[in-house]
Amino acid sequence: MSASYGSASARLMPGSEQIKVEMRNKYKKPTTLHCGAGSGYSLSVAACSVIALFLLLQLYSHLPQKDALSLEPRLPTSNHFRELEEVEEENIQMPPPRKRSPRAVKRKPKRPTTFIDEFLDETSQLRRIFFPDMKTAIDPNKGNDSFYYYPGRIWLDTDGNPIQAHGGGILFDEKSRTYYWYGEYKDGPTYHAHKKAAARVDIIGVGCYSSKDLWTWKNEGIVLAAEENDEIHDLHKANVLERPKVLYNEKTRKYVMWMHIDNVNYTKAHVGVAISDSPAGPFKYLYSKSPHGFDSRDMTIFKDDDGVAYLIYSSIDNSELHVGPLTEDYIDVKNVVRPILIGQHREAPALFKHQGTYYMITSGCSGWAPNAAMAHASESIMGPWETMGNPCIGGNKIFRETTFFSQSTFVLPLPGLPGYFIFMADRWNPADLRDSRYVWLPLMVGGPVDRPLDYDFGFPLWSRVSIYWHKKWRLPYRWNE
Ligand code: DGJ
Repeated sequence: MSASYGSASARLMPGSEQIKVEMRNKYKKPTTLHCGAGSGYSLSVAACSVIALFLLLQLYSHLPQKDALSLEPRLPTSNHFRELEEVEEENIQMPPPRKRSPRAVKRKPKRPTTFIDEFLDETSQLRRIFFPDMKTAIDPNKGNDSFYYYPGRIWLDTDGNPIQAHGGGILFDEKSRTYYWYGEYKDGPTYHAHKKAAARVDIIGVGCYSSKDLWTWKNEGIVLAAEENDEIHDLHKANVLERPKVLYNEKTRKYVMWMHIDNVNYTKAHVGVAISDSPAGPFKYLYSKSPHGFDSRDMTIFKDDDGVAYLIYSSIDNSELHVGPLTEDYIDVKNVVRPILIGQHREAPALFKHQGTYYMITSGCSGWAPNAAMAHASESIMGPWETMGNPCIGGNKIFRETTFFSQSTFVLPLPGLPGYFIFMADRWNPADLRDSRYVWLPLMVGGPVDRPLDYDFGFPLWSRVSIYWHKKWRLPYRWNE
């Protein structure tokens, strides 16, 4: 771990040295003025210059501290990185058990309530801890807490509306040097299609937001919209559209979106594909299919350094994941697929790469309820993949065992900060899905893994993946320069 932040600060230090040198030279300048002239006139000019310089220095030393500080180069230092890796504890207590009538107790003895029950219970006294109200919203228009992430708080866009980009992912568009965040636009009523069905919101479409700084997000609108009337269309509002992700294809110059397409009972289990000429859409829906002939539910796509892209999806009733390359135009899969993490029952895959190794975060399968994340690693994207354990650090035991009450959706690399990523997750609110929250946290790759691995023969091939809990955090100053 220290190696990664050490190298980042080493890389950035020369810049700060350069600024200091320039400042020194600037102050040297007046002392060299006309020194060789030797005349009385030059002497008086020199004396005046010294007095003027003295007065300037006096004035400068009386400037308010804030202004003085602003002359300091504000580059990331190893301290800023250490802040990200601080282990922050949480101390939430179970509320006392609620009073029940003796008759109710006799009829149905109550099993012990868990934190997950409290989390899912709309009337719980802990509700405001997990779902703080509008008063604490992250608001780019207020700017008083600029660039701070507060996992779980409502996050407003530049129009002042809660961001609707659930189960989402981020594309960095090289052409416009802008980040685009795509996700499920769930701003409708939550209901159950039938008694046993999971909570749902009708498809509205895929929301898209743009940002230069990963904190201030402008709503670009719904870039792929539901079909209101055509009942046999995949995007008919009564169906399911989840986890949209977008990649740019250099060869075709198209933005390609992949998503999970399903029916109300999640028995269709398809992937859908849409394309656009612009990152901000509109996207044209192409089709859906069972990739490689298999069922496909939670999914993601990943573009490798060589431009080859891959589809990764939960399959065989979520019992394993499948991975296979996309065609060159990214609008279909090739006829190549490998099963991975067989029998491990993982979903919500979020894949990333560091120093030639592939890493992935997944969740368990428990509907909208949170569960423990796992980190996995592999030398080849096609596997075999190894499970390294729970990447969550800090909070408390229940925070770590519930991925901080959230579920993985994407891991975003931070250019210029090798080894550092943003872990993006959803804190689902099944009672009101539109009010689901975002949990963004720093993810670091480094240090030894926690447990012996299957294939390492005592020489671990990969490093630990760590996701650090923070109530409030921000990226280092000028992280993107
Ligand atoms: C868990 C998945 O990860 C979500 O995307 C969603 O499909 C829910 N299950 C539905 O219960």
